[in-house]
Amino acid sequence: MATVLDSVRAFFAPTTTYAIDAETPADVVARETLLDRVMGPDRRMKSSEKIRRNRLPAEGLALVARNAEAHTIGTVRLWNIEAGIAMDGAPIDALLLGPLAVDCTCEGKGIGAALMRAAIMEATHRGHGAILLVGDAAYYERFGFFAEKTRHLVMPGPFQRNRFLALELKPGWLDGAAGMIVASGRKFA
Ligand SMILES: CC(C)(COP(=O)(O)OP(=O)(O)OC[C@H]1O[C@@H](n2cnc3c(N)ncnc32)[C@H](O)[C@@H]1OP(=O)(O)O)[C@@H](O)C(=O)NCCC(=O)NCCS
Repeated sequence: MATVLDSVRAFFAPTTTYAIDAETPADVVARETLLDRVMGPDRRMKSSEKIRRNRLPAEGLALVARNAEAHTIGTVRLWNIEAGIAMDGAPIDALLLGPLAVDCTCEGKGIGAALMRAAIMEATHRGHGAILLVGDAAYYERFGFFAEKTRHLVMPGPFQRNRFLALELKPGWLDGAAGMIVASGRKFA
């Protein structure tokens, strides 16, 4: 059966020199090198990193961009979280996106946008209700991420509220969401 990623591959492959695909173990070293280069050594100090530490990404939601030589030139991963609690006290399942990064030599070619769209499509396809992230609103608003839905939520550490954004994949999913973001994904064995 064709998956959402098959459609994304088919859409981008004929006209560009990159493809979006599921991450494999062969991408890991290149992905970490890319993140060190693009985001610097402080990247592991971020509050988002507390959510990711010792966890595996959400099922099917670790994506890479590869160039024509099959080198990893972009990465995005999403993580299972509880986005606070709803008004009835039940935890709200959601995803935290990040990091998103594209190799500096390939910026401005739409690769970041392709990774974002593929991630949003795949998360929707898998039935998730919302995606949260911490990042520049000027970049992420084009994909539908806004700070309004996170105003009663907090990250587990320092964060800038105007960079704490969310996209609802199911309308109203974050209505009344309040409290702290907590990791809920699978742990490394
Ligand atoms: C942000 C990033 C992923 C964008 O990747 P990309 O492949 O260059 O993005 P696209 O080609 O899809 O989009 C380029 C557009 O986004 C804009 N843009 C890029 N970063 C931006 C930012 N931080 N704020 C606002 N706009 C931004 C560019 O100016 C360009 O605008 P244009 O379309 O009007 O020319 C890439 O620059 C990167 O890896 N940056 C360093 C890591 C980072 O900041 N990650 C995000 C935080 S998790």
